Amino acid sequence: MKLAVVGGGSTYTPELIDGFARLREELPVTEVALVDPDASRLDLVGGMARRMLARAGHPARVTATASVPEGVAGAQAVLLQLRVGGQAARDVDETLPLECGCVGQETTGAGGLAKALRTVPVVLDIAEQVRRHAPGAWIVDFTNPVGIVTRALLEAGHRAIGLCNVAIGFQRRFAAALGVAPERISLGHVGLNHLTWERSVLLDGVDVLPRLLDEHGEEIARDVGLDAALLRRLGVVPSYYLRYFYEHDRVVAEQRARPSRAAEVAAMEARLLELYADPAVDTKPELLGERGGAFYSEAAVALISSLLGDRGDVQVVNLRNDGALPFLPPEAVVEVPATITAAGAEALPVDPVEPLHAGLIAHVTAYETLALEAALHGGEERVADALLAHPLIGQASLSGDLARRLVEANRPHLPWA
Ligand code: G6P
Ligand code: MN
Repeated sequence: MKLAVVGGGSTYTPELIDGFARLREELPVTEVALVDPDASRLDLVGGMARRMLARAGHPARVTATASVPEGVAGAQAVLLQLRVGGQAARDVDETLPLECGCVGQETTGAGGLAKALRTVPVVLDIAEQVRRHAPGAWIVDFTNPVGIVTRALLEAGHRAIGLCNVAIGFQRRFAAALGVAPERISLGHVGLNHLTWERSVLLDGVDVLPRLLDEHGEEIARDVGLDAALLRRLGVVPSYYLRYFYEHDRVVAEQRARPSRAAEVAAMEARLLELYADPAVDTKPELLGERGGAFYSEAAVALISSLLGDRGDVQVVNLRNDGALPFLPPEAVVEVPATITAAGAEALPVDPVEPLHAGLIAHVTAYETLALEAALHGGEERVADALLAHPLIGQASLSGDLARRLVEANRPHLPWA
């Protein structure tokens, strides 16, 4: 089985390779093709990947190329984990909105829109090449903003599923708190990518969320950056991305007082690349655990093995709404538990969503619709419209100002600007 990883020069790749090595019974990979335009990164990360597999006694070979057609040819699944403009562009996403009093984040708010504008055209171009050179291959998208990118792929008729590690992260953390194996936990996870709530936590089919909030509320609340009292009152666990909404102004003040996450990550990446260059290093460095992508490899291996192996188990993925949340249009992309077979993902029925969550979900879905329009067709006015529709922006002069600044700062990455 050949898998291709576009953005294979990412410092995250050893996380994925570690998953392939540990979970080899689940996913019999014979070739991992790393695709990346950055030759020196490919070299370093490719070398590290080969050493890790050799150490694990894994028979897969690692190939590396700058050519998408060459890398994806013959692949059964193509993983997208690219970042247009690298950490430098991310730094702008995280700092520019702060100048206007808005949260600076790479997937939420104005920064997330800038990332969508840069990313959607590149991903669609890659997907066309996958269609041509690896017809029938599954595209697993981890590239942010996952909701908008997945919607772009699905609307262009690609065989795509969006993936994020937030749900698997909660599953693992709740399992650890309860002292049980993660497979026994299933989540009542609902919303959009990076806008989700856990409304139930089933242990062997029995809801233990009230008990979790009772016994581990403080620790869970600390993890998501919100008050335990709020979680207990609402009876849900919001993802830590909800903090950007529920504590917006406080987050802005905090962000203004410290370096951007992009700057932190850039420093970590420099150190990681040094480690990958060292021929004596052949296991996943601890430092990688400080990135946000924990359990990413487990989620990716589970999804690909269920798609290719027709397993029919339930996993949380990003897929076309098609009535799962009846208050959203069918073509919206939602993040919910779904049954995964060779035919793709089918959402499980979702309990009616409380107004407190449904309002925000609907609001952000409308923003995502306009964000995709702006990414596909360009134009500063479309960018301003998307910002006007965003619950964290929503004011006319602010939207116009931010749109102008974002377009200006991202001009080299926007095909239409
Ligand atoms: C989580 C999110 C990802 C995001 C990552 C950022 O894993 O689910 O979508 O890319 O955090 O982590 P970083 O270490 O780059 O800040
Ligand atoms: Mn994510």
